[in-house]
Amino acid sequence: MTVIERTGKLDAGEFELQFFDSRYMLKEEDEEKWSGWLKPSCIPITIILILIILVVLLPLLDHEKNDDNATAGLNNLKYLRRNCSNTCVFQLVESIPENMTYTKGSPLHPSVFHGWLDLIEKAQNTIDIASFYWTLQDSDVTPDPSAWEGEHVFQELLHAGTRRGIHIRIAQNKPSIYQPNYDTEYLVRKGAAKVHSVDFDRLIGAGVLHTKMWLIDSQHFYIGSANMDWRSLTQVKELGVIVYNCSCLATDLAKIFEVYWMLGKKGADIPSTWPSSLYTNINAETPLAVSMNDTLTSVYLSSSPPQFCPNGRTNDIDSILDVISKAQKYIYVAVMDYFPSTLYTENKRYWPIIDDALRKAAVERQIHVRLLASWWNHTRSSMIYFLRSLAVLNSSDSYIEVKLFIVPSYSEAQGKIPFARVNHNKYMVTDNSAYIGTSNWSGDYFINTGGIGFILNQSQTGTASSQPITEQLTAVFERDWFSEFAHSLSEFEEYG
Ligand SMILES: *[C@@H]1O[C@H](CO)[C@@H](O)[C@H](O)[C@H]1NC(C)=O
Ligand SMILES: *[C@@H]1O[C@H](CO)[C@@H](O)[C@H](O)[C@H]1NC(C)=O
Ligand SMILES: *[C@@H]1O[C@H](CO)[C@@H](O)[C@H](O)[C@H]1NC(C)=O
Ligand SMILES: *[C@@H]1O[C@H](CO)[C@@H](O)[C@H](O)[C@H]1NC(C)=O
Ligand SMILES: *[C@@H]1O[C@H](CO)[C@@H](O)[C@H](O)[C@H]1NC(C)=O
Ligand SMILES: *[C@@H]1O[C@H](CO)[C@@H](O)[C@H](O)[C@H]1NC(C)=O
Ligand SMILES: *[C@@H]1O[C@H](CO)[C@@H](O)[C@H](O)[C@H]1NC(C)=O
Ligand SMILES: *[C@@H]1O[C@H](CO)[C@@H](O)[C@H](O)[C@H]1NC(C)=O
Repeated sequence: MTVIERTGKLDAGEFELQFFDSRYMLKEEDEEKWSGWLKPSCIPITIILILIILVVLLPLLDHEKNDDNATAGLNNLKYLRRNCSNTCVFQLVESIPENMTYTKGSPLHPSVFHGWLDLIEKAQNTIDIASFYWTLQDSDVTPDPSAWEGEHVFQELLHAGTRRGIHIRIAQNKPSIYQPNYDTEYLVRKGAAKVHSVDFDRLIGAGVLHTKMWLIDSQHFYIGSANMDWRSLTQVKELGVIVYNCSCLATDLAKIFEVYWMLGKKGADIPSTWPSSLYTNINAETPLAVSMNDTLTSVYLSSSPPQFCPNGRTNDIDSILDVISKAQKYIYVAVMDYFPSTLYTENKRYWPIIDDALRKAAVERQIHVRLLASWWNHTRSSMIYFLRSLAVLNSSDSYIEVKLFIVPSYSEAQGKIPFARVNHNKYMVTDNSAYIGTSNWSGDYFINTGGIGFILNQSQTGTASSQPITEQLTAVFERDWFSEFAHSLSEFEEYG
């Protein structure tokens, strides 16, 4: 697959790789020669050879050393930039709440439930999960029949850890009275998993580990909105991505996991300098070019909060702003909560960073902006103010539209399930890129809360054999936007 050749950026990476290779191979060839040339008759030649090697290699070694000092190993990583030859497979996965149906012909994707089971089944050595809280097993007073999917996933994890010899590591937010995480306690007790709890209060003074990712054998991974909660499989609307056979990117995700794992150790502190093994050169400036479903795609992973980002890692907020700023036609955002402020700081602060970027895109660049937020019993009604203030800009020359998605309850029992029946999606799609994340869009999530973004760009599509991922995600957005579940702001006049 000559995937790499088609982008300008990777050509540079390739050049660096070849540079690295040629030096490396020179050393290797010379070492091979030694054994045969170490005969007495060859000594003069050998000496000359040593001199030649010294003359040729020393400046290079020196150069490398300087680089090391200059940028603390980042350049070394650059030399090691992989020529990613993976043929990755990309799969959108969704949880559609029980009994919710769309009109015929609407795009539907495999369920998060089946995606997770598939990942567990594919595991040969390791499963690493980073998570917010754990309630895969229903501990509600009246267990819901639809909880079986979550319980099944839990049993499969338990089985993998105890019977299949899979090493399971879980990084979770520090348990509390509200989130006791009995699931992971049980897995530890059964010897099925090792668990580290990340204490944001101690590390940063506020925030939570809100991330949701699975990593299998450093090959396959999941990133998305679904929590390790049975509701996330049958009662909450979720969207995520599973990528298979993609070690180039999976090993980069492993670095994000290692940050959580390291900071979840007893007494851990955020280091002033991160180990260079956690640096990355896959980021917004130099994304990785990789084949996804036979289509050349540039991808990278972003992380938040900034305190959790070793050298080279793009901050989650910067990736969002980058995607917004590079849209050329449209920006569709589906996010559960949207607040240009902080919500959990002692004094609420105005935080207009994303809001400004969206306004600018619509007003100054005539990008068509659509924002689909979510509404449920727990939504702060002040969100309506903020959404209205965006929507007033909508006119014939600055398209900025807002709707609210409501997941109905189809039975009394569904209506009574706590923290269910909501659209939990957290993604954005533009004419050239997709951003699939784990964070709500309020200041807190980018200042002190742990989350991940998966960003891909497929605009340089050459001979795409499958529908571009951005088109698939756009179709998902439009399905929701034009559905009976999306409500215009005028229906919320009694609020705010
Ligand atoms: C890198 O990729 C290019 C283009 O596919 C290929 O020609 C080259 O041989 C690869 N180099 C290595 C070291 O794999
Ligand atoms: C909702 O889905 C459940 C599970 O599939 C089914 O048993 C029930 O009859 C459905 N209820 C309605 C109102 O469609
Ligand atoms: C991943 O690669 C393996 C080995 O080449 C192949 O058998 C498998 O079908 C691939 N997985 C997917 C989801 O395409
Ligand atoms: C995606 O790639 C296209 C073509 O290279 C470029 O114009 C666009 O700015 C890129 N988008 C992002 C978000 O990087
Ligand atoms: C936004 O403005 C355009 C152009 O005036 C209009 O067609 C569209 O219906 C408006 N959208 C909303 C949600 O009002
Ligand atoms: C949400 O509010 C509606 C109307 O106030 C109520 O009927 C419903 O039971 C509530 N749902 C939950 C889960 O609290
Ligand atoms: C954000 O998302 C989480 C779940 O991922 C949800 O429980 C929370 O209420 C959301 N909203 C805010 C404002 O934090
Ligand atoms: C990629 O290929 C897989 C397996 O063939 C398929 O299920 C999936 O929908 C494809 N993804 C895209 C974005 O076309």
